Amino acid sequence: MSDLTFAGLTPAPADPILGVTEKFRADPRPQKVNLGVGVYLTEEGKTPLLDVVRDAEMALAQSNQPHGYIPINGLPEYCSAVQKMVFGADSEVVQSGRAVTIQTLGGTGGLKVGMDFMHNVCGASRAATSVPTWGNHNALLKYAGFEVAGYRYYDKANDCVDFEGMVADLKALPAKTLVVMHSCCHNPTGYDLTPEQWKTVIEICRQGQLTPFLDMAYQGFGVGLKEDAASIALFAESGLDFLLSTSFSKSFNLYGERIGALTVVTQNASEAAVVLTQLKSMVRANYSNPPSHGARIVSRVLNNPQTFEQWLGELAAMRTRIQKMRHALADEMARIGAKRDFSFVTRQKGMFSFTGLSPEQIDRLADEFGIYAVRNGRICICGLNTRNVEYVARSIAAVL
Ligand code: LMR
Repeated sequence: MSDLTFAGLTPAPADPILGVTEKFRADPRPQKVNLGVGVYLTEEGKTPLLDVVRDAEMALAQSNQPHGYIPINGLPEYCSAVQKMVFGADSEVVQSGRAVTIQTLGGTGGLKVGMDFMHNVCGASRAATSVPTWGNHNALLKYAGFEVAGYRYYDKANDCVDFEGMVADLKALPAKTLVVMHSCCHNPTGYDLTPEQWKTVIEICRQGQLTPFLDMAYQGFGVGLKEDAASIALFAESGLDFLLSTSFSKSFNLYGERIGALTVVTQNASEAAVVLTQLKSMVRANYSNPPSHGARIVSRVLNNPQTFEQWLGELAAMRTRIQKMRHALADEMARIGAKRDFSFVTRQKGMFSFTGLSPEQIDRLADEFGIYAVRNGRICICGLNTRNVEYVARSIAAVL
């Protein structure tokens, strides 16, 4: 018998975010609330089917297309639409052809292919992520073979970005470190850098020869589609090489379709062409080629000016509902005289609020009230609605 058996394995821990959904589903209490995973929910507590998605799907169903393989790097009309959305159609990056974009399995897939590429092809061995960050960043980097360090990001005492700490830590990183950053709607804190701060970070990357990898999973959930890509425009202008992962899970509510993209910005079109060959090799050896359905939906919507505008409207409606719920929670906490001022919730951007609640307080919310959140204190504001916000506020106040 071979030594390779499964008998001695110990179970892996549940995922800190998706494991919360499993616990929520198993809870029989009708008043339960899921503030765990970053998923947009309507006022009725449902994942919506956007009108633009429904219309695109109807058109696709009527087109009777067979289900052939699509290219290893994805649908060309999807990849070009993503680039135009992210950088602007007239931008130098798009016009020069120095960026290459491939379709990936969600934003996570974009991160994974990009990290594998940086480690296996470009020889990078060190990476750095913000403290705190989306937990999967560190897991992905470790599986890709990186040694991972943290850079300071969150100032708990003052509820804001610890920019001085961030600058000091980035400056201390060795050359060629892959620095993972959130281009907007920082997950989990909801605190983003200002344009001036981004410019400082870009200079540090240039001087320290660091490779930025920007994760943009929440474009459109901060201020607006274009505004949320302002940091990307600064990186593009800087002339630095960088990587960017995009997701349509949230902005199109296409979670289960696993539709995202990886963009690598290089110095010129011939470098980009070589990078593309390497990315294709990575993908082929991982999952061969991506699925087509999500890419067909997104490219139909983005490539038609009318449906693009319609989508912007639907995205704005989601963003507005989240902002309303931020204010509703902060107001309710003030109204009931909670021990702590919760107005910080209204200053954070994107789907999340980093509440400062301890793991024990999060556990109490789940056990005593059926309210589920991530143990690092992150709550997803999208799980709030006008019917449950008072209950959630009272429950949080009770565990403070
Ligand atoms: C989250 O942070 O909740 C989302 O990005 C979903 C996920 O995969 O963790």
